[in-house]
This record gives sequence, structure tokens and C-alpha cells, in this order.
Amino acid sequence: MASLEKEWLRRQQLVQTALISHETQNEQQATSAQVPDAADKQPKRGFKAVAGMEELKALVTESFINVLKNREIAQAYGIVPPSLMLYGPSGCGKTFFAEAVADEVGVTFMKVAPDDIASTWVHGTQEKIAEVFRKAEQAAPTLLFFDEFDAMVPARTSEDHHNQNNEVNEFLCMMNNASEKGVFIITATNHPENIDRAILRTGRIDEIIYVGLPDKASRESLFRLSLSKLPASEDINYEELADMTSGYTCSDISYIVKSASRKMFNESIARKEKSYCLITQLQLEDAIRHKSPSVSQRDLKEYERVRSVFSTKDGGDKGSRIGFKQQ
Ligand SMILES: Nc1ncnc2c1ncn2[C@@H]1O[C@H](COP(=O)(O)OP(=O)(O)O)[C@@H](O)[C@H]1O
Ligand SMILES: [Mg+2]
Repeated sequence: MASLEKEWLRRQQLVQTALISHETQNEQQATSAQVPDAADKQPKRGFKAVAGMEELKALVTESFINVLKNREIAQAYGIVPPSLMLYGPSGCGKTFFAEAVADEVGVTFMKVAPDDIASTWVHGTQEKIAEVFRKAEQAAPTLLFFDEFDAMVPARTSEDHHNQNNEVNEFLCMMNNASEKGVFIITATNHPENIDRAILRTGRIDEIIYVGLPDKASRESLFRLSLSKLPASEDINYEELADMTSGYTCSDISYIVKSASRKMFNESIARKEKSYCLITQLQLEDAIRHKSPSVSQRDLKEYERVRSVFSTKDGGDKGSRIGFKQQ
């Protein structure tokens, strides 16, 4: 009984700490929302918040982060950080990873989505693109992250509009020498095959990296990381959970943890006495059974085809067929 009480107190402290850090985070978010151009330059959680993805971390550390962290030495060797493009199925951590890279290095992070640069007036988009780069330069060193990049620089065809050509040209122009101005580029896309090829030419995007489904170690690590912040039972079999979720994306796993957590929250508030019902192995397994993988086998086959055309480097399941790692 005494040990149960102790456990409850420990859990309560844990939840309290989580709440406080959540509030602090919200405050930080509110501040940066008021001053969108002056993003936080302090390293936050960096790679520590990224579960698994060890190969991708090593790859990006070597080619990108080390150069950014040692710019003077890199300059002496004539090395600039390469611009990267992360591609792969949705929900596998591309956006999350790019944010973590900026945290890890401690540079300004600017995320640009297609809607941010879309304009209804002629040449409006072109001006917005130029403005994005100008702002990034002002806040330098900046990691400029273009999400859903395929929608910004779609492949040009002969029937294409003159305006669209101008926009792609504007990107090409701005991307040239951006790193000399302290602006480093990471882009992400679920559809690299739809991107204008001129953009992918070396010098604009240097390294094209596949971010695939999480492998077993990454899934286990993702379960551990997500559940470490929640009132979870101590006898959870993380390896078993990882085994059961082969073929699931990172966001599928986040969803599974959230749905088990929501269930236990409802049970906790339904109880009369004040206590937390712990999330158990059974609940998690049940949540897994109720969620099928969000990326279909057909889509994975298509990614495999695209990957054989595009990747200069592989950040995912190197040496295995995508999504079908032997385990
Ligand atoms: N390696 C990871 N570690 C921890 N959480 C992750 C990881 N990868 C993805 N996630 C979670 O999954 C969510 C979806 O990832 P996201 O970066 O939006 O995928 P994508 O950009 O590839 O579509 C993120 O918001 C994050 O909560
Ligand atoms: Mg994304």
C-alpha cells in the first residue's frame, strides 16, 4: 500500500513537471508568435527529442551540422553546408527532424509552407519568395525550411504559365549563394518526382535524403520517449510494441500513444478518488490493433521506385527495401 502511494506521488510529481514544462513551452510559443521574425536562437531539445533515426542523425551531423558549428574552419577548407532535401512518406518525421536540426545547432528556424508564398496577384509570389530570403538573411544564421517543396517549385512543362517559370527562376536565383549570406536550406517533400529538375541540380539542392518508415529500434525509441512523459506502467514491453508496429509511421505511433493516454485520462477522471490510472501494455496493444498503418503497401512500392531515381544519400533503412526491413 505504502509503495502504491509512493508510486502515485512520483507520478503526480511527474505530471506536475510535465505541466510546468508545457506551460513554459506555451509561453515561449506565444512570444515567438508575437515576433515571428525573431525566432529563438537558443538550442532547445535538439536531437534529444528525436527518437531513433540514428543513421539520419549521423549523416546530417557529418555533412551539415559539423560544418555549421565550425564555420571558420569549414571556410578555410572551402566547405559550405550543403542544402538538403528530405523526402519520403508523410508522417515519418521530416518536418520534425528539420526543426530539431535548427535546435541542435542553435540557429534561427524559419519554416515556409506553400500558403506562405502563394499570391493571387501577378508576380506576387515572386516578391514573397524574395522577401522570405531577405528575412532569413536579416535573422542569419538561419535554417530556412521549405515544407511541401513540390508545391512551390513544380516541374515545368511547355504548356506552363509564364508566371510559374518566373517563380521557379526566383527560387533558383535566391538559392544560389544563400549559404554565403548565412542562410542554410532544408526542404521536404512527399513527392520529389513533381519538383522542377533544375532545382535539384547540384549547387541548389546538394543532398537528397530518403526518410522512410521508422525501423524497429526507432519505433521502440519513439514509444519510450512518448511514454516517458506520461503516467505509464513500469512493466511495458517496448520491444513487443515495436514488433507489433512494423510498417507504421512515426505519427501513427504518436497517435497510438495518444489514444491509449486519452483512454486512461477518461478512466482517471471517472474515478472518485484522486489518482492516475497508468497506461498499460494491454491498452497500447489494443490501440495498435485499432489503428492500421497509414501508408499503404502500394504507396511504399511507389516510394521504392522513386527512391531508386532520387536518393544521393539514405537516411532511413539503409540496405533494406523501404518499409520492409527484415526483423
Ligand atoms: N523521430 C521522431 N521522434 C519523435 N517524434 C517523432 C519523430 N518523427 C516524427 N515524430 C512525431 O510524428 C509527427 C509527424 O512527423 P512530421 O515531421 O510531421 O512528418 P512528415 O513531415 O514526414 O510528414 C511529429 O509531429 C512528431 O510528433
Ligand atoms: Mg511535414
